[in-house]
Amino acid sequence: MRRFGLTGFPLEHSFSVAYFDEKFKKEGISDCRYDAFPLENIADFPKLLEKHPDLCGLNVTIPHKESVIKFLDELDPVAEAIGAVNCIAIADGKLTGHNTDGYGFLTSLHEWINRFSLTLPPGALILGTGGASRAVSWSLRKLGVDVQLVSRRPGPGLLTYNDLDEQVMRQHALIVNTTPLGTWPDVDSCPALPWQYIQPLHLLYDLVYNPPKTLFLKMGRKQGAATTNGLRMLELQADRSWDIWNG
Ligand SMILES: NC(=O)c1ccc[n+]([C@@H]2O[C@H](COP(=O)([O-])OP(=O)(O)OC[C@H]3O[C@@H](n4cnc5c(N)ncnc54)[C@H](OP(=O)(O)O)[C@@H]3O)[C@@H](O)[C@H]2O)c1
Repeated sequence: MRRFGLTGFPLEHSFSVAYFDEKFKKEGISDCRYDAFPLENIADFPKLLEKHPDLCGLNVTIPHKESVIKFLDELDPVAEAIGAVNCIAIADGKLTGHNTDGYGFLTSLHEWINRFSLTLPPGALILGTGGASRAVSWSLRKLGVDVQLVSRRPGPGLLTYNDLDEQVMRQHALIVNTTPLGTWPDVDSCPALPWQYIQPLHLLYDLVYNPPKTLFLKMGRKQGAATTNGLRMLELQADRSWDIWNG
């Protein structure tokens, strides 16, 4: 039996275990399993590996995508460029870090834009500065989009939510939520945007997929913006992880 899984904390919100269970069933894969390995403190990562020597691959989620890197033997060039890892391949005791979030985001963005004949705006706001934010910024910069990060704390190259005036909102018509705000059961929260400046020209992409219609997306819809959630990205990044684990 080849064992795979997801580590992070908390894991209750994640769809990955159900996604892989379903995939194995649908594709008749009977020699693999995919489990959740909740890990509150990344310092316990080596213990997790010791306890499960049969692990062949792991996905990594909030909040360990950056802090897990110091435990790995090698990074592939994309994970290196992004500076975050959401997929680890384990072979002959060697741990290689990959990033499939960038691929998942980029591919799902193209699918969404093409399906609804939308136009990719020249400027984007990325809400949050964690692991997923790094993958999203890397992807958008590759497309030549002018990326502006938004954080709760002021810092070099960052805007805070208080800096979001009418001009900033007009110049950045793509808005990507990479914060966990709005994730079940915290469904009544959403990023502190000046919603009065959101217009039909805006495209709102929420990486959160549970619930499918977050408050962020509902507020955007109310203002006439195009919206999408992170479910397709989740599927794409999971499938890419599977391809990596299977060479
Ligand atoms: N759909 C998918 O395939 C997919 C893939 C990856 C991630 N995700 C989702 O994306 C979210 C972020 O994941 P991550 O791994 O990047 O997590 P992370 O590394 O913990 O980063 C989240 C960032 O959000 C901001 N943030 C956190 N709590 C906040 C709060 N209460 N209010 C406002 N901002 C807050 C923080 O940025 P500041 O401190 O700068 O404000 C933080 O760095 C999670 O919900 C995750 O499930 C989805």
